[in-house]
Amino acid sequence: MKFAIRAGRVQGFLFTSAWWGWVYLGERVPGVVYCSMGKRIAGGGAGVVRGPGPGHGQGSGDGGALFARGHLLQLAGLSAKELRAILGRARVFAGHDADGSDDPKAWRERLRGKVVANLFFEDSTRTRVSFAVAAERLGAQVINLTSVGSSISKGETVADTALNVAAMGVDGIVMRHKSSGAPHLVVRTLAERAHSYDDAGRVCSVINAGDGRHEHPTQGLLDIYTIAERFDRLDGFDLSGLTVGIVGDIASSRVARSGIVGLGALGAKVVCIGPPTLVPRSIEAMGCKTTHDLDGVIGKLDAVNVPRIQFERHDGGGGGGGEKMPGASNAVASVREYYEVYGLNSARLAKLRPGAIVMHPGPINRGVEMSSEAADSGQSMVLRQVRHGVAVRMAVLEMCLNASAQGR
Ligand code: CP
Repeated sequence: MKFAIRAGRVQGFLFTSAWWGWVYLGERVPGVVYCSMGKRIAGGGAGVVRGPGPGHGQGSGDGGALFARGHLLQLAGLSAKELRAILGRARVFAGHDADGSDDPKAWRERLRGKVVANLFFEDSTRTRVSFAVAAERLGAQVINLTSVGSSISKGETVADTALNVAAMGVDGIVMRHKSSGAPHLVVRTLAERAHSYDDAGRVCSVINAGDGRHEHPTQGLLDIYTIAERFDRLDGFDLSGLTVGIVGDIASSRVARSGIVGLGALGAKVVCIGPPTLVPRSIEAMGCKTTHDLDGVIGKLDAVNVPRIQFERHDGGGGGGGEKMPGASNAVASVREYYEVYGLNSARLAKLRPGAIVMHPGPINRGVEMSSEAADSGQSMVLRQVRHGVAVRMAVLEMCLNASAQGR
């Protein structure tokens, strides 16, 4: 992965996929997503982009343009205004909206008659279930598809699978995949072939539910929502003055990437903390600070978010001392030593500021990223994060599917 910087901001990300051997270059030209060695996959021409409705901005980069078309592929490129529009709508669905003007009894009408396909080609509990709950609360029908039990197991490509699902007239595809950029490839394919499966050339919404090491945009949004709730920032979602630490496996974490860009856009300071093998200095190009000294910084944090160590994304290596590990890793020589230096244990819990919160996207490796005491403490927001995930995904589904329908 490389970063290109121009005029002080990140202009591009390069992701490689060994599986497909293709590259995704996002944000090289604002409003245009490139794929397959620079081929244009989604244009930003005037008259093509359609807004998601009154009060929603068009965004400043790929993320914005794609969101406006009814896709949410990443938080990178979304403007603060767009992030606040999604979070503000989530606030209504979370029941935190003060004026109560939106009647929950009417929510089932919002997406009545629509069909959402959950295409999960990598395991999931929280994201998959909460997208299904969110869609059903809005009145949509949900179809579930995984690698096992679908024709992916017979060698069908993800792009062909998405085309076939779209040809059946689904309104939204929620997709998780182990390869960075897989949902971008699906958007490109659907756009290129739209007239072969839809009389009106309609492209259904595509929502990224986590792609490789790239992004997990709805997780980023629900984490932001949880911080905003705890620090009384639901009015306006202005996070300035707050410092959020993201601890651990930043190099492999799509949750960290969505968090860094989303939190930063809303004014929070973000510090990534972990060993050099998991927290490369180059991540600072995304707009965060880095440090390898958790004990030196923990007392300065308002929120400490601890994504799971993604052992399955590390090169295989020794477990160190014959320890039983969740997975082999060259990046973490010894899980026991990692936990001693970076684990959120009771001693570190005691060093947190009064009122500081503990977060984890799940699933938790208890005794690796954090102790059970930390995970189950009064400061832990883990289950509030999960609860907010439904409201955030209701907002995203409603806004994306409505934007897609307006684009017919
Ligand atoms: N946080 C998260 O993405 O969890 P799942 O992998 O269970 O969906």
